[in-house]
Amino acid sequence: MQISNHQYTIQDIPVLDIAQQFGTPLYVYDADKIVEKINQLRGAFPNVNLKIKFACKALTNISILKLMRQNGVEIDVVSPQELQLALHAGYTGSQVTFTPSGVSFDEIEAAVAAGSMINLDNLIVLEKFGQRYSGSAPCMIRIKPNVAAGGNVKIMTAHEGSKFGIDIRQREDILRIVKQYGINVVGLHQHTGSDIKEADAFVRAAAVIFEFAESFPNLQIIDLGGGFKVAYKKGDHITNMPELGAHLSEAFLDLSKKLGHELQLWFEPGKFLVSEAGYLLVQANVVKPAPSRTFVGVNSGLNHLIRPMMYDAYHHIVNVSNPEGVKTETYDVVGYICETDTFAKDREINEVREGDILALLNAGAYGFTMSSHYNSRFRPAEVLIYEGKAHLIRQRETMEDILKNQILLEL
Ligand code: LLP
Repeated sequence: MQISNHQYTIQDIPVLDIAQQFGTPLYVYDADKIVEKINQLRGAFPNVNLKIKFACKALTNISILKLMRQNGVEIDVVSPQELQLALHAGYTGSQVTFTPSGVSFDEIEAAVAAGSMINLDNLIVLEKFGQRYSGSAPCMIRIKPNVAAGGNVKIMTAHEGSKFGIDIRQREDILRIVKQYGINVVGLHQHTGSDIKEADAFVRAAAVIFEFAESFPNLQIIDLGGGFKVAYKKGDHITNMPELGAHLSEAFLDLSKKLGHELQLWFEPGKFLVSEAGYLLVQANVVKPAPSRTFVGVNSGLNHLIRPMMYDAYHHIVNVSNPEGVKTETYDVVGYICETDTFAKDREINEVREGDILALLNAGAYGFTMSSHYNSRFRPAEVLIYEGKAHLIRQRETMEDILKNQILLEL
């Protein structure tokens, strides 16, 4: 979103026009920004054979997935339903990686049948996989390197207490099972967590994987997950991609040399690719003065963007209707859900008047995908700004969506 000619625009389209045309609450995504982030990631690893696998749990709209596909990005899924969405978006099964946690074995069988790569994340499943497929289906193994990193403990996935992956201290068990069944392990995987700012944490986790990789002479893939930190507010510390690229590429190329063949380096970013591209547009229903503070109540809430309440996440808020307001005020921006759902506390924003359109920034990742029907409210519509035009990519819901699948008993 840019400010030009006294108004906020996305690809030169006034944001207020988008809000008026499609209504609010509305998720809006900027395709140019997504492509810019894809190129930024590629640019950080110019010397390695890099594959990007979008962690689609961050944003599953099939038009976004198609955009990823057209830009050479493959896909990481965590459920059979995400796998189906990938196929709807035009991916082939072999372009999909399935990285589940604690799922039933038939989900793994279904993904193998679809031709997808599987990341196995526990010893029992590894053994079952060996019994079922022996060496006939390639697979990867998800390792827990015991490195604690991430924005907060709720989004860390590789520390000792995390449920994810096979603990690196069980390496001998892994090797025993692989050997016993002749399992075709083509890759090793790890994902450290989300919102990781220190390049060092990636490097430390990668070192554990690189070292273990030497036990698999025919290995083809190292998958280092996602988790790059993006800027949620001005001055935020973010993952330094050029520095990370340089460090990891060097160690990765060393490993290739040791194994005597070229390996592929995979990443599975979610936030990095789509967070900054997304905006949640909402409207101020009320501006409610109280003795110690002023509340701005908007036509949205934790049912549409749960990150502030779930992770204390900061989302910058802009008053799109008052871009050059002479006055700023301090507000609590709150939702319309019948429990405390605060988007922002004590936030300085250009003066808000009833009816103003506000934009919550960095709403592209884990926004719509974590939304719900709580309070039986409709989820937002979604719009993609692509090649200078606004395209509706998800219709606004109706009462039929809320009633769908409910059964009124004859009592
Ligand atoms: N790979 C795996 C195996 C993952 O579990 C995740 C995220 C990713 C990749 C992508 O991580 P990213 O690049 O998006 O940080 N809902 C939370 C984030 C949960 C992340 C879960 N796993 C949030 O809104 O902050």
